[in-house]
Amino acid sequence: KKLGIFVSGGGSNFQAIHDASSRGLIHGDVSVLVTDKASCGGAEYARDKGIPVLLFPRSKNCPEGLSSIDLINALRTFEVDFLLLAGYLKLIPTELVQAYPKCILNIHPSLLPAFGGKGFYGMKVHRAVIASGARFSGPTVHFVDEHYDTGLILAQRVVPVLANDTPEQLAARVLHEEHNVYAEVVAALCEDRIVWRDDGVPLIRSKA
Ligand code: GRF
Repeated sequence: KKLGIFVSGGGSNFQAIHDASSRGLIHGDVSVLVTDKASCGGAEYARDKGIPVLLFPRSKNCPEGLSSIDLINALRTFEVDFLLLAGYLKLIPTELVQAYPKCILNIHPSLLPAFGGKGFYGMKVHRAVIASGARFSGPTVHFVDEHYDTGLILAQRVVPVLANDTPEQLAARVLHEEHNVYAEVVAALCEDRIVWRDDGVPLIRSKA
């Protein structure tokens, strides 16, 4: 399978997926990287590995960025099967969601539906979790729809919130699990191990 990864930042989840793919743990290749920040760590890493980088979306600040239609055409040229958001901070436009039904995933650093939605990104998520007094947090991998963090949940991992955690400490604990769970889910996706419950909830079948 061919993967397109979307990043806006450091790209450690992208690197974890790329690494798992290089080691044969994911039966898929990262064919293209899409970013709204040409010089972010994720884009640098992609260039270093010889992975093509596309700029998206087009905006006032980024006139060289692709329009949605041009991005969809480019992704078709790369024959991409799945789109994986890995710290991509922009909303995915409807055209793209419709062009890739049930084929776009995101990872979010909280146990959705708690602490999700517009405004809950980066350290803000972890600060809010600590302030709430919640004793557990952890990443959620979910399908992407037209809204922030509301698509169907595919997988979650739980980590403890410790009494004296700083947001940075909690973020590091969650991020470690993000790398594990995202690679596991993408491996399942590439092996057609996603099954759909009668009520529409997606589940992951374990390896036979
Ligand atoms: C992660 O915490 C992810 O859950 C969130 O953005 C962060 C990206 O980190 N969506 P990285 O760029 O993969 O290191």
